[in-house]
This record gives sequence, structure tokens and C-alpha cells, in this order.
Amino acid sequence: MAEPSGTFRRPLIGTTAEQLDGFEQAVQSEAGVTLREYLLGRLHEDTVEAFVNSPGFGVARGVGFPTEERLKPRLERGDTPVQPGPPVIWGYGEPFGTVPDTDQKRLAGLHASGLLDFVNAREWGYVQSRSRVAGFLSHRFSRVPEIETWRVQRIELVGLLKHPEPVVYVSDRLPAMIELPSVPTRPLDTFEEAGLGAVRRGEDGFAARRGDVIRFVGGIRSARQCVECHGGERGDLLGAFSYALLPARTRP
Ligand code: HEC
Repeated sequence: MAEPSGTFRRPLIGTTAEQLDGFEQAVQSEAGVTLREYLLGRLHEDTVEAFVNSPGFGVARGVGFPTEERLKPRLERGDTPVQPGPPVIWGYGEPFGTVPDTDQKRLAGLHASGLLDFVNAREWGYVQSRSRVAGFLSHRFSRVPEIETWRVQRIELVGLLKHPEPVVYVSDRLPAMIELPSVPTRPLDTFEEAGLGAVRRGEDGFAARRGDVIRFVGGIRSARQCVECHGGERGDLLGAFSYALLPARTRP
């Protein structure tokens, strides 16, 4: 798998370090469920019993005793949703306006919840080494993330790892790794270039508006759990999401 490039390794600035800490914790709590489910779901009952009674299981490993509640199948994730609206491309030459700080914060929150859904840590299974996860393609959105007063119209993945130049994957569904090999790509538009520039400098995200349309580019950075599969270093940029939003009152 292509490793993140060290060329753009920069100190994280602004709220980026905080965001990454929060993301890492959230991933940890989701991935923790997987380990438990993995152990309890796949082992034969007798083996589970032998395992849970063995020293080191439970509190020390943070896995806990298998109650019926914990053995229930995990909540179903929906199919990858279709994009709620058409693509948005901003041409060169037309300036875009700024977005107030409070709205930028809300967009960062939207991105944080979308990203957590996308990485889908509950389905990572038991990561042992990079070579053991060949064929693993479970990152995908299972729902359209929500934000007050606005409506998400579009979320696209800005890919940095597989092409010599950054590309945007154009799909009629929200980003899902499984379909990336078959979806077309396009170059970044003027807004996405500015946004990617900001996240490469270490910013967490970049927002702008033109008319009713609000756009946001949010960086996807490697938490320590991502490094296990992706290589590189914690904080490296693995990609970005490009969001387009409209006021909730407008129709798609
Ligand atoms: C269990 C292994 C594994 C873990 C853990 C993992 N990933 Fe991935 N990720 C993959 C694989 C496999 C791909 C597909 C790469 C490929 O096809 O070359 C991928 C692809 C991606 C891509 C798309 C890259 C592109 O341009 O095509 C992003 C973004 C990404 N991962 C982010 C993350 C983040 C963020 C984390 C941590 C929260 C993470 N991944 C953790 C295995 C993993």
C-alpha cells in the first residue's frame, strides 16, 4: 500500500493537534469493540471460556467479561449512501468569501463525525501487521453526516496516496474504498487547491462560501492506529474530504 509522503510532514497548527487527539480517542473506543467482538464472535464457546478465564483477560486487557449484551451482533451499518446532490466545482477567477469562525468550528465537527464513520474502525478486525490486512477495504461512509441549519450536498475524497498529483474521486455515492478503483477522478478545483494547501501547512480544515454554497476541506490525518496499516508517521496526511453544503431550507 502506498505510504503517505514525508514531503508534506509539517507541525500541526491551530486546533489540528487537539482534533487528532480527539479522533484517536474516538477510534480507540470503536476499535476496542472490534477486538472484543472478534474474540467472542469467532472463538468456539469453550475456547472463549478458557480465554476469558486465562490471566490477562478482562480488566488488564480492557476487554471485559462476555455478557450477553456484549455478544450481540454489532449495530448494522447502512449501505454507502448516495450523494445527496450534484457536484460543485468552482472555476478560477471568481473569489470566494470567508466563513465565520463559529461556522468553521461546526464544519470541523461535521468532518470529525464523518471521518469516524468513514474509517469504520469497528470493522478493522484484529490488526496484526500490514501484511495481514491485504484486501482490506472497509473504509466507507454509512450515513450522511448532519449539521444544524445546513445540509450536506456532497462529500468527495481527495486522494493523495495513489496518484502522482492529488485527485478527487467522483462517485455518485459517498466515499467508499471498495469502489475507488472503478470510479473516475478529476483534478482539484480552485477551492480544493486552496483547502489542500491549508491542510498541508498543518491546518485542520479550510472553509469558504460563494452565494448560498458553503464548502469545506477537512484533512484526514494518521492517528497512531492508522500507522499500523498505512505506515508513515502519526499526523501524516492520508487524504482529505471535500464537502459542499447548502442552507437547510433550500432544495437540492
Ligand atoms: C486495518 C488496516 C487499516 C487501518 C487500521 C486503516 N486503514 Fe486506511 N486504508 C487501508 C487500506 C487497505 C486502504 C486502501 C489502500 C489501497 O488500496 O492502496 C486504505 C485507504 C485509506 C484512505 C484512502 C487513500 C487513497 O487515497 O486511496 C484513507 C484516506 C485512509 N485509508 C484513512 C485511514 C485513517 C485516517 C485511518 C486511521 C483512523 C486508517 N485509514 C486506518 C487500511 C487501513
